[in-house]
Amino acid sequence: MRSKIRIGALISGGGTNLQAIIDACEAGTIDGRIVFVGADTPAAKGLERAKRHGIPTFMVDYGDIIRRCKETPEALTLPADGDIAAIMAKQSLLGPTAPAEKARLFIATRMVAEAGLLAAMAEYRPDLLVLAGFMRNLTPYFIDRFNTDPGYPRIMNIHPALLPAFPGVDGYGDTFRYGCKVGGCTVHFIDYGEDSGPIIGQRSFVIEESDTLESVKKKGLALEWQLYPQCIQWFAENRLQVVTMTYTLDDGRIAQRRVVRVAQPEK
Ligand code: GAR
Repeated sequence: MRSKIRIGALISGGGTNLQAIIDACEAGTIDGRIVFVGADTPAAKGLERAKRHGIPTFMVDYGDIIRRCKETPEALTLPADGDIAAIMAKQSLLGPTAPAEKARLFIATRMVAEAGLLAAMAEYRPDLLVLAGFMRNLTPYFIDRFNTDPGYPRIMNIHPALLPAFPGVDGYGDTFRYGCKVGGCTVHFIDYGEDSGPIIGQRSFVIEESDTLESVKKKGLALEWQLYPQCIQWFAENRLQVVTMTYTLDDGRIAQRRVVRVAQPEK
């Protein structure tokens, strides 16, 4: 029997994806178990789902941290192991035109919150971290401390759109308002940008004229609940590998693309 991977989950909301992952672990369709569920807000209703299944929970109140840092920026204590200048140079969440002071405060507040997450997570020693409706971007401070082997990413996210279309906080809304004929969802490893990491899996659905934003969300979520457990199981089976592939452009130059290869299952 394959050994079970230890999965940590971060959420912000109702946690229906979390529920799908819990159910898949309990049913044995994911060779894993959830070792903690963390949230960025006390309002995350999904914490109750975790508690019902006996899963340890914690909460790092991002809103409160950001408010306090804005009120008294001089009282802000950055984590001792983080070099904010290096982290700002690495991240691609904020463009080069972002006002410097604002960008610094954004990264500083996230670093403080992320140090809280890392401290809360440490005792559970997760193999994989899944973002299941976690509505915060993680900075290189957090990512580099969790992804200790650069060739082996271990943080997954689910996004409610067919990336790279419609990154951000309202994927289904953006898809619907644009008048798209298809919508979908994407599971990807995270990198230093917003919803920009290598894609592991995608599912799509048709959008009819008669659809509403509500029905689009319903179609999308139903696919998310299938796709996320599937991608997590691939990880558990050690079948995922991020590869850089080269191809030739029309003018003969060589270009590269990043692809997540899903290996055949072991016999
Ligand atoms: C899901 O639709 C997920 O794709 C989305 O939030 C929802 C969470 O629902 N995530 C993002 O938008 C991340 N940027 P849930 O709490 O019921 O799983």
